[in-house]
Amino acid sequence: MLKKARIAVFVSGGGTNLEALLCAQEAGNIPNGEIVLVVSSSESAYALTRAANHGVPGAAINKTDMTQEAFEARLSEKLAEYCIDMIVLAGFLSILSEAFVRQWPERIINIHPSLIPSFCGKGMYGLKVHEAALARGVRLTGATVHLVNEIPDGGRILLQKGVEILPGDTPQVLQRRVMEQAEWILLPQATQLLAKQIVQEKEHA
Ligand code: GAR
Repeated sequence: MLKKARIAVFVSGGGTNLEALLCAQEAGNIPNGEIVLVVSSSESAYALTRAANHGVPGAAINKTDMTQEAFEARLSEKLAEYCIDMIVLAGFLSILSEAFVRQWPERIINIHPSLIPSFCGKGMYGLKVHEAALARGVRLTGATVHLVNEIPDGGRILLQKGVEILPGDTPQVLQRRVMEQAEWILLPQATQLLAKQIVQEKEHA
């Protein structure tokens, strides 16, 4: 009987969300899942060092000089090697094709640093999201964890949390507040939600 869903976390950069996931796991807050693999789209991502520090295997799969098909074939190979049940996109900046996403229905979640449907879609990632929120003058932003389907940012929303924008905020200050008050809390919670669902489905299969 499967007790824990096997989780791969996809990263591209600093990996603070990965760190939050690994700490949540170590604190017993993801009882139905186990992070068994970290995949980075860049060899130099600090997230790989974080994975190693927590004893989790890391793999760098870089899209440069590769077709989308070859890139995704390498990803799929790695996921099969580790018998992965679900994927967490934690600041993963490489685009995944519809064909790839279709192979993982209701099995991929993504964290986005705004309240979807605001400030999301093509070209909206990282600091750009916070720049857009500040330029628009909204008073409330936040983070969203959603399932990933074929439409970018189009999957069902699992969790959202609002974060206040304060006078004098810069994109960097706002990014940090959204991470501290929303992302690092929501992503482990949503990961546990999906992991629990997977374990329950397997038990009843
Ligand atoms: C996070 O703010 C995450 O929400 C964002 O990238 C950052 C990664 O930081 N993701 C997106 O913008 C996806 N559209 P991290 O590497 O420190 O976790």
